[in-house]
Amino acid sequence: MELTQKDRKPPRHIAIIMDGNGRWAKKRGLPRNAGHAAGAEAFRRIANYARTIGVEYLTVYAFSTENWRRSEEEISGIMRLLGAYLREAIRDMAKNHVRFKFFGDLSRLSPELQKLCLDAQSQSAQYDGVQVNFCLNYGGRDELVMAAKAFAADVVNGKHAPEDLTEDLLSGYLYSADVPDPELIIRPSGELRTSNFLLWQSAYSEFVFMDVLWPDFSEKDLDKAIAEFHGRNRRFGGV
Ligand code: IPE
Ligand code: IPE
Ligand code: MG
Repeated sequence: MELTQKDRKPPRHIAIIMDGNGRWAKKRGLPRNAGHAAGAEAFRRIANYARTIGVEYLTVYAFSTENWRRSEEEISGIMRLLGAYLREAIRDMAKNHVRFKFFGDLSRLSPELQKLCLDAQSQSAQYDGVQVNFCLNYGGRDELVMAAKAFAADVVNGKHAPEDLTEDLLSGYLYSADVPDPELIIRPSGELRTSNFLLWQSAYSEFVFMDVLWPDFSEKDLDKAIAEFHGRNRRFGGV
């Protein structure tokens, strides 16, 4: 019997590697950016659904520190779509009650996009619907380097001694500082790797890899991933 959302509460925090846009476009003989546009639509659908079923945190991998290796044309297409999405999100905020956070080094984005990120974050801070953590120019290794530098600076300025460092203290320097670790990480597209996503936070996450390409990812696929999560035996190193 397939479980539906009526049967069980979803995990508090779900993270998704939104992968497969390029292959989706290729299959249709379309340019890669048409795949990214369809992927943005899938994100709108799934963020909305996550909110209605009561997910508290939805973290989505939108652009990695390695995605700069793509063509200028593809990158500028992705950035344009992000800008359009953020403008729309700011406009519809009062209706959707989504709270936005951004994980990643935003300094490499255009000043215009950086401003949209800051506006989306500050103007949505009071909303209590789902929190969407948008990973933009995000890399798990880059995040750990950023945190190590920030801690080192706090040692130099006398706020901490080196031996103060604990797992909890280090967690507080990450982009995800106030966010619980994701219980469930979903990767569509058939690839079986993390591609530098949430390296620290995924220590005990359950991974669900799915063959569907991200633009085709439906509400039913999210239900399926959650049902699979509920069937897992999480031991956290115990028995
Ligand atoms: C994910 O889809 C979107 C980004 C990485 C920006 P891809 O563009 O990686 O799609 P595939 O993996 O080539 O199909
Ligand atoms: C991971 O997908 C990054 C995002 C989905 C934003 P990639 O397509 O960049 O990962 P690889 O290259 O297949 O590992
Ligand atoms: Mg990919």
